Amino acid sequence: MFFHLILLVISVMTFLASSHEPSCDQNCADKPQFTPSRLVVQFGKPTSALCSVCQPGCNVTTFGIESPVGSLAKNGTEITWTVDEMTEWINSLSCYYINDTTFLQCCSDLNITVYKPPENVSFSVHPDVPMSEGQQYTLQCEVRDVAPVANLRVTFYRGRTALVELKTEKDEAKPVSEVFTWNITSTKEDDGVQFWCEAKLELGAEGPQPPPVVGSEKLTAAVHYKPQLEASVPPDPIIITEGNPLTLNCSSVGNPSPSYIWRTSGITSPSSGSVFIIKSITHEEEGSYTCSVSNEKGSITVEFNVTVQDLELPSTTLPATTTSTPPTTMITTTSTPPTTMITTTSTPPTTMITTTSTPPTTMITTTSTPPTTMITTTSTPPTTMITTTSTPTTTKTTTTTTTTTTTPNRGTSSKRLHSFMMCFLLLFSALV
Ligand SMILES: *[C@@H]1O[C@H](CO)[C@@H](O)[C@H](O)[C@H]1NC(C)=O
Ligand SMILES: *[C@@H]1O[C@H](CO)[C@@H](O)[C@H](O)[C@H]1NC(C)=O
Ligand SMILES: *[C@@H]1O[C@H](CO)[C@@H](O)[C@H](O)[C@H]1NC(C)=O
Ligand SMILES: *[C@@H]1O[C@H](CO)[C@@H](O)[C@H](O)[C@H]1NC(C)=O
Ligand SMILES: *[C@@H]1O[C@H](CO)[C@@H](O)[C@H](O)[C@H]1NC(C)=O
Ligand SMILES: *[C@@H]1O[C@H](CO)[C@@H](O)[C@H](O)[C@H]1NC(C)=O
Ligand SMILES: *[C@@H]1O[C@H](CO)[C@@H](O)[C@H](O)[C@H]1NC(C)=O
Ligand SMILES: *[C@@H]1O[C@H](CO)[C@@H](O)[C@H](O)[C@H]1NC(C)=O
Repeated sequence: MFFHLILLVISVMTFLASSHEPSCDQNCADKPQFTPSRLVVQFGKPTSALCSVCQPGCNVTTFGIESPVGSLAKNGTEITWTVDEMTEWINSLSCYYINDTTFLQCCSDLNITVYKPPENVSFSVHPDVPMSEGQQYTLQCEVRDVAPVANLRVTFYRGRTALVELKTEKDEAKPVSEVFTWNITSTKEDDGVQFWCEAKLELGAEGPQPPPVVGSEKLTAAVHYKPQLEASVPPDPIIITEGNPLTLNCSSVGNPSPSYIWRTSGITSPSSGSVFIIKSITHEEEGSYTCSVSNEKGSITVEFNVTVQDLELPSTTLPATTTSTPPTTMITTTSTPPTTMITTTSTPPTTMITTTSTPPTTMITTTSTPPTTMITTTSTPPTTMITTTSTPTTTKTTTTTTTTTTTPNRGTSSKRLHSFMMCFLLLFSALV
């Protein structure tokens, strides 16, 4: 039937010897109408369309649809075009008729989009991973076997964030493969972040909802970068009282994980960790400490200048008793008369030594709980008063603060205090 019509058209045209245009008149008054007005069909899938050749009641005998695929069913001046399996990469369908009076052909086209979702979407990073910080890398998305490529939209993702959406200038109805690229400059924040791409076919309102989307595998980026100091930079120099713990923090971030090397001119043994600790600092350990943090991408060096402060008394050799961690040493100097008061506070057994001199008066007060010993020494005029409160037997001179560190001075200071007391007692008795 269809072929008969075609033959008829051709014979009529030939017979009339009229100039047959390759494309028919699209501007005739009563044009064929397609339903739907645009057709989107997946390759290999069934589809259909209806053509109303001319207005109802019109008088035409020669009409039809030109299509390389499908079958036609006529009902009056309506033609139904049906395809069981869309196997042609066509982009339009033409419906026509010949005016019985004028013998002119009138027609209109139905736009058809035959699509095929991508066969494969693969993502890669060039030149290679792991990336190096600050370098340019090309993200590549290869979309294989997709049609029509003009409707393809490729989005590059960094984690959940879309970086860019790309499309091609190519226009090809049949399936093609296309490579999309996007350049990025790597940052250390990209380390561990997933990169990937997604291919979407934008087929419009007549197309499938939602549109076909194929994502690539996700590639977790590794970014190598040189160490960066994470720990806060301490004041320079670091002033620390003898006997206190010293903590130097060189904690840094880097990929691969950096290694630490500590160097010092002092006697302290080197450490290989990010933190360097001396439990109880001595004068010998004063000086410069450097840590070198390095990985394959580079290194940084941090210098710490450590000054060890002494708690020596100005007049006597009495060790300025204790000092330990949190409860810091408070040195208070009172002006009239010139009196130096050194107060050390700590929870467990503490000693209070008060040395009074008028004038120069040095008062060392160490407050404490249970066994409290108060020694008051007055030098000029030579009157020494030693007051001992509570438990008379035990006289503790050095205060060791709870858990950590400060034990080294204990014995020596005890001895020293003992000698000191002996001296005064001797002096006292001599004067008396
Ligand atoms: C259609 O054509 C036939 C003969 O060709 C004619 O008799 C009839 O009146 C026409 N009808 C219309 C609506 O033109
Ligand atoms: C032909 O079209 C008319 C009106 O559009 C409709 O009533 C009828 O059912 C159709 N016949 C077939 C076989 O589709
Ligand atoms: C055929 O052409 C004549 C003259 O131009 C016009 O009056 C008529 O409406 C046309 N018929 C159709 C079906 O378009
Ligand atoms: C069909 O496609 C052509 C070109 O692709 C376009 O110019 C025309 O407007 C389209 N027609 C319809 C009805 O969508
Ligand atoms: C897609 O392509 C990649 C690279 O060519 C391949 O490794 C992968 O197996 C393919 N996946 C599928 C589903 O074909
Ligand atoms: C991306 O980088 C490559 C290699 O450096 C270069 O050849 C290409 O032109 C760049 N592309 C864009 C869009 O900048
Ligand atoms: C060292 O510094 C880092 C980074 O600020 C911190 O997380 C860590 O707890 C510090 N270590 C010590 C022992 O203070
Ligand atoms: C440590 O002391 C040296 C010498 O006085 C000085 O050159 C250096 O800048 C100091 N270090 C820091 C971190 O300030």
